[in-house]
Amino acid sequence: MSTKDELLKYLRESDGAWISGESLAAALVISRSAVWKHIKALQEEGYEIGSSSRRGYALRNLPDRLLPAEIRQGLKTVCFGRETIEYYDETDSTNLRARALAHDGAPEGTVVVAETQIRGRGRRGRTWFSAPRYGIYVSVILRPRVQPHEAPQLTLLAAIAMTETLLERASLPFAIKWPNDILVEGKKIAGILTEMALEMDRVDYVVVGVGLNVNTPEEVMAEEIRDIATSLHMLTGKNFSRVDILRGFLVKLEQYYALFQDRQFERIRDRWKELSGIIGKQVKIEGLDRAYEGEVIDLDRDGFLILKASDGHLERIVAGDVLYR
Ligand code: BTN
Repeated sequence: MSTKDELLKYLRESDGAWISGESLAAALVISRSAVWKHIKALQEEGYEIGSSSRRGYALRNLPDRLLPAEIRQGLKTVCFGRETIEYYDETDSTNLRARALAHDGAPEGTVVVAETQIRGRGRRGRTWFSAPRYGIYVSVILRPRVQPHEAPQLTLLAAIAMTETLLERASLPFAIKWPNDILVEGKKIAGILTEMALEMDRVDYVVVGVGLNVNTPEEVMAEEIRDIATSLHMLTGKNFSRVDILRGFLVKLEQYYALFQDRQFERIRDRWKELSGIIGKQVKIEGLDRAYEGEVIDLDRDGFLILKASDGHLERIVAGDVLYR
């Protein structure tokens, strides 16, 4: 733990009560001016810390930021986010950052998080609107021991993890839209971008990137997506702790990932089917090279959607955009 984090720990433990500069300096074995330097750094990160020459320091308020020290506070994971959480106030894309880290050998469970992205990426070359400090933009590095064709299941389990996290915090009709969107009443609240790198015929690493609109007010939402996107704030009129949601998501993602590593795909698929509500629906799908129409019969082992066309023949679709009919 860095000295700054240790100082923060003492401030937290004193529960808003004053703690003298002298006792902090003694506990951390640093000078009083070094204590002051770290206090200033914490204040710059957004921690509200009262200071008085007579009484010392007192922690008044935590910042509404996705700071690693905040995420780690009570984080109940075994691996995800335990070693490295790379934090950016602004970056191009957390998926790009995570891919660069993974390429350089970063271990499984490395987390990259940003307050905003200037080139947030979506599927099929789209952009992901990343309102500064209103949403969660996070990528997690995985190194699964599976064949490349099994990797799309990771998108499914990330969608399950995020949907369950949201259901535990707001009673709204969250539903997964194949393959990677989370919607509420037809409007998109979260998206997932899974990218992988191969080494010969095995997976080297996978980056699971999730974008969630949390406290974004309608007027902040980019105009071109205002009709099709939503946020927890827009749906409830309330603000949510992004740190709490992110922690919850990492725990769920880790749990479902353990099932995946145990090759319990069936349980993942069953949960996905429950949360998607797509089975049995009539849909139109804009596929990669053509459109499909019919009834959704199943989701197969590899995460492909099985569609029954009106003439009865079955189609197996790897990716596309679904329109409900
Ligand atoms: C989609 O709906 O098309 C997928 C959107 C995925 C957005 C997230 S935000 C965090 C991560 N970094 C990115 O650049 N994209 C993903």
